[in-house]
Amino acid sequence: MRVTIHDLQQMKARGERIPMLTAYDYSTARILDEAGVPLILVGDSLGMVMLGYDTTLPVTLEVMLHHIKAVVRGTKRAFVVGDMPFMSYQTSVADALRNAGRLLQEAGSQAVKLEGGEPMADTVRRLVEVGIPVQGHLGFTPQSVNQLGVRVQGRSKDLARRLVNDAVCLEQAGAFSIVLEMVPAPLARLITARVKVPTIGIGAGPYCDGQVQVIHDMLGLYPDFVPKHAKQYAQMGRVMQDAVTCYLNEVTAGAFPTSKESFGMDQQVLEAVIAELGPE
Ligand code: KIV
Repeated sequence: MRVTIHDLQQMKARGERIPMLTAYDYSTARILDEAGVPLILVGDSLGMVMLGYDTTLPVTLEVMLHHIKAVVRGTKRAFVVGDMPFMSYQTSVADALRNAGRLLQEAGSQAVKLEGGEPMADTVRRLVEVGIPVQGHLGFTPQSVNQLGVRVQGRSKDLARRLVNDAVCLEQAGAFSIVLEMVPAPLARLITARVKVPTIGIGAGPYCDGQVQVIHDMLGLYPDFVPKHAKQYAQMGRVMQDAVTCYLNEVTAGAFPTSKESFGMDQQVLEAVIAELGPE
């Protein structure tokens, strides 16, 4: 049985923290699912950590569909959220409905995530009305990087007020959860107390109902930079580099493969083939 929105709401009600991680492929999704991660985000961050773009902006709906399908195939229990990529929902409510519908119908995600507060409330409301669960995303919203820069959001009185209002608007529109990215911890605490839906923080301090991290950041797999809010639980990049160096050395030295990694054949068949072909 998959985790449900009701389970997530119960977790908030019981004061249980909700762990969320990103995944973009089948094998990683299986590992997270089997480890018991209840909430998996197929984030458009894949544009950066999987595809090497500078921002999330070039990610298309087709790319998201491709990766969400793989993650869904790798999960049995986790609630999978598919990110709506840039320009797949901002253009009109009709576009948002069509494209969010594809993430559920074709790719099999259980919900979608989209960026923005009050201005997105009508879109969220309509998606929820037709049965598409929506996770909101406030604070630093990476699809607006060209306007915002990469910086903490909500430090001034006006912006802090606006963020609280955005969160309330998203909740009223029916969002089942809200991601808070790069928001001062005390403000994230205030928002978390003012909405009933679970808040999921990334760079928003310890008081959110849950936490999300980009899997490449927490595993030490993204070489370009490590965000201040990320904690590296492993150095998988280094582990991979060491393994690849070992492989290079063994192949060049003729130490790999050995008979253990090779396939034999019937000697008589081999001799018959050589007899037919003649001497080398
Ligand atoms: O795309 C993503 O991975 C995200 C998280 C940073 C929340 O939106």
